[in-house]
Amino acid sequence: MYEKSENIADKAILEKFEFRNIKQEEAGQAIIIEQICFPPHEACSEQNMKDRISTAPELFLVAVDKKTGKIAGFLNGLATDESVFRDAFFTDASLYNSDGKNIMLLGLDVLPEYRRQGLGRSLVFQYLQREREKGRHTVLLTCLKEKVKMYEKFGFMDQGIANSTWGGEEWHEMGCTLQVEEQKIG
Ligand SMILES: CC(C)(COP(=O)(O)OP(=O)(O)OC[C@H]1O[C@@H](n2cnc3c(N)ncnc32)[C@H](O)[C@@H]1OP(=O)(O)O)[C@@H](O)C(=O)NCCC(=O)NCCS
Repeated sequence: MYEKSENIADKAILEKFEFRNIKQEEAGQAIIIEQICFPPHEACSEQNMKDRISTAPELFLVAVDKKTGKIAGFLNGLATDESVFRDAFFTDASLYNSDGKNIMLLGLDVLPEYRRQGLGRSLVFQYLQREREKGRHTVLLTCLKEKVKMYEKFGFMDQGIANSTWGGEEWHEMGCTLQVEEQKIG
């Protein structure tokens, strides 16, 4: 369960980075960052990234280095009423349902030079807070075993081995319930 009290973005992070939705003209930066952060068999393709950005920029949170004006990291996803993660969301942005009560997270990327400073954590917490305020119910993702502990620190629970066969690897499905009493999407 996501608790609001966890959403204390480090003051230093907020001083250094601007958190906002991606702009269409930043698609090229996102594509390059994805290629740096993931091996080819796991990375989102150029076309899928462009589709994601044009379809749901409001679910594509970026952290921009205030000094350079460039993206240092991002977290993106799609909304849906489906409640089990499936790989089709990686490749088919048309599955997006803006009123969907759940979010499938599709990519958390932080450029190497910005890692281990709390930026990944801040991106996740800010994202969860935004979606909670929109009335979403659950946020789902898949990750490799080595990242399970990291997402547990962020408030996600390991739901076991996922249906996913992405990149020919074994994935864990993880979920975070956003505390929601009433739906207020739309
Ligand atoms: C994973 C990634 C997003 C982490 O970003 P980051 O900004 O370095 O993360 P943070 O500094 O906020 O670290 C938050 C916590 O995650 C853990 N963590 C960070 N990187 C990790 C890694 N590579 N493996 C396991 N745990 C990690 C840390 O233990 C840290 O907890 P702590 O502060 O209690 O020590 C970044 O390394 C990255 O982009 N990697 C390549 C892409 C990737 O693997 N994305 C996630 C796919 S599921």
